[in-house]
Amino acid sequence: MSKMNEYVQDVFKWNDEMKKFLESENVDRNNELWQKLDSFTEVMNRMNQPLNAQEINGIHEQVEGLQEDMENYFRERSSLGNIFSTQEPFISAGKHVLPPLPYAYNSLEPYISEEIMRLHHDKHHQSYVDGLNKAEKELEKARTKNDFSLIKHWSRELAFHGSGHYLHTIFWNNMSPSGGGKPAGSLLKEIEKYFGSFDQFKKQFSEAAKQVEGVGWAILVWSPRSRHLEILQSERHMILTQWDTIPLLALDVWEHAYYLQYKNKKADYVDQWWNVVNWKDVEDRYLKASELKWKPY
Ligand SMILES: [Fe+2]
Repeated sequence: MSKMNEYVQDVFKWNDEMKKFLESENVDRNNELWQKLDSFTEVMNRMNQPLNAQEINGIHEQVEGLQEDMENYFRERSSLGNIFSTQEPFISAGKHVLPPLPYAYNSLEPYISEEIMRLHHDKHHQSYVDGLNKAEKELEKARTKNDFSLIKHWSRELAFHGSGHYLHTIFWNNMSPSGGGKPAGSLLKEIEKYFGSFDQFKKQFSEAAKQVEGVGWAILVWSPRSRHLEILQSERHMILTQWDTIPLLALDVWEHAYYLQYKNKKADYVDQWWNVVNWKDVEDRYLKASELKWKPY
């Protein structure tokens, strides 16, 4: 095979791979990239005779232009964090693991004791990871056997332990030994825009946490649809959950999060908790989440 033939074959293959990639990304058929790749395929299909130097140069130029367009597309998509989604590492059913605590167990003292952090992270969070893995495996079994007689039970377990695992994973990073104070930058502006002021936001968040019915969470979320922040309460982990939102800041007000140290003074725990809030982490989550936009209704 001549060098030129090899080159043409390679370009053909690349063109085909790019189309498959756009397909996997659900890129609209009318998108300019699709049109360019399609018209290039047509050019390549018409080439069944030897090419002169001018024609070869023309193809080179077109290939280079297309490669640049695709690279720009990759760059834009990777800034959203989910490029090559089919090749990204993912958690298969039943394979969740307990994330390590991002700081020492005693480093949130005096606000949250080492004893609480050890129990909360090593025992309680671990039990949600185990429960989620169990639910996923049982549902996998149900799919294999085509037996969904226990679907209600395992779906409930999936929501309970899944929300427990994901919220705790957010919660650990939402806190830091060097936390406290106020957020800065665009998150602060967004808080002031929607809640009036940081103090008004803090008051509403604290009240939502203190008045959770039974056990649960207070959660600051960004709504990609209404495009504003909101504060929600969540009973247990998932009851009252507002789907379609992204948790940014989560405060655990289950007894296991504070009782050993604060006893029945949940309100004191909530007030003291603000001293360990990692606003940098909340802002990172907000910036990432706010990239996501759906049609507003
Ligand atoms: Fe908890």
